[in-house]
Amino acid sequence: MKKIILSGMRPTGRMHIGHLKGVLENWVSLQDDYNCYFEIADWHALTDDPTINKEVQRNVIDMVKDWLSVGIDPKKSVIFRQSLVPQHAELHLAFSMLVSVNRLLRNPTFKEKVADVRKKKSETKISLNLEGLKVESEIESIVDYLRSEDAKEANRMLKSVIGRIKEEVMERLSVVDTYEGYIPPEISYGLLGYPVLQAADILLYKGEVVPIGEDQLPHLELTREIARDFNRIYGDIFPVPEPLLTSIPKILGTDGRKMSKSYNNAIFISDSPETIRNKVYKSITDPMKIRKNDPGRPEICPVFYMHKAFNGEGYMQIEEDCRKGILGCVECKRRITEIMAESLESYRKKSENLKDDVVVEIIKEGSKKARERAEETMSEVRRCIWNF
Ligand code: TRP
Repeated sequence: MKKIILSGMRPTGRMHIGHLKGVLENWVSLQDDYNCYFEIADWHALTDDPTINKEVQRNVIDMVKDWLSVGIDPKKSVIFRQSLVPQHAELHLAFSMLVSVNRLLRNPTFKEKVADVRKKKSETKISLNLEGLKVESEIESIVDYLRSEDAKEANRMLKSVIGRIKEEVMERLSVVDTYEGYIPPEISYGLLGYPVLQAADILLYKGEVVPIGEDQLPHLELTREIARDFNRIYGDIFPVPEPLLTSIPKILGTDGRKMSKSYNNAIFISDSPETIRNKVYKSITDPMKIRKNDPGRPEICPVFYMHKAFNGEGYMQIEEDCRKGILGCVECKRRITEIMAESLESYRKKSENLKDDVVVEIIKEGSKKARERAEETMSEVRRCIWNF
């Protein structure tokens, strides 16, 4: 019997080369040896911001076009949409009783999100703070009082100014920076429960193997805890899933930051050769390598990481020649452009030829299969908890 794999992605739109090398190629290669369920995690996509539902709707189609074009095969694997399988919500509810709030507050991904929101807020507050604080006239008065040797009034004024500054600073930084456990109102209950929903995703299909990147390990650990707790309390029905860690090749965005659609620095699987060329030519390289013969530092160059991901063994020669100052950036870019454009060409053509309604149909059919499997598990769960 083939083992069951479950993995998923939030629909963020078109897939870039980081997704391709880090996730999708791996999924494609697993399809023959496992029973694969690939989930479009659209509810998860709303946990940061519930108002992006329309955008998510479009992103679902674009994302699945790319999945299909690189070889995720609906004949071999079940491609389904989380929101079309309501059993996820029910299992999520049952699981939510098994996890303490404290356990969720300790989840690293949650802590990072909270820290991000707090940082953004405190930055805007500090700039307001400096602008809004008008103390010049008071300071002038203090100087006047001192000139007329009225120390008492000068002190009174000074105290009042200091008091105001203190108050403003406390108010504007608010509890954001002073109380470590503070959670800003932008953070929803849904976000806190993100990993509980993910546990439901995996266990609803009795997933045994979960291919994920290292960043998702804490979520899988929570899934394992939930599975064990459920089995102990209600009845032994869930496998305790194992991670299948994929070594994710490093790919940087064309500006040197992490590659991400939101940074506008991504090369997409569906980009035309022309677009790929423009993006690669605009990409930063080692800023110290100005002339062709200057030695470069491949380890900080996004173009080098593209070679490493797409150029087979060829990247080693590139690395050597770059360091020695034999290879200039223009030539280096020209070569990788050619290689990438060629290797992405067939994907792009396939995804261009995929009509929206065909994709919608594939998702519908996959979700129907997923629902059937999910309902089997859910009826077991209901039997275990309520005896019906
Ligand atoms: N949290 C995952 C991510 O951000 C997406 C995801 C949702 C997932 N449900 C899952 C991954 C179940 C693996 C299994 O990448």
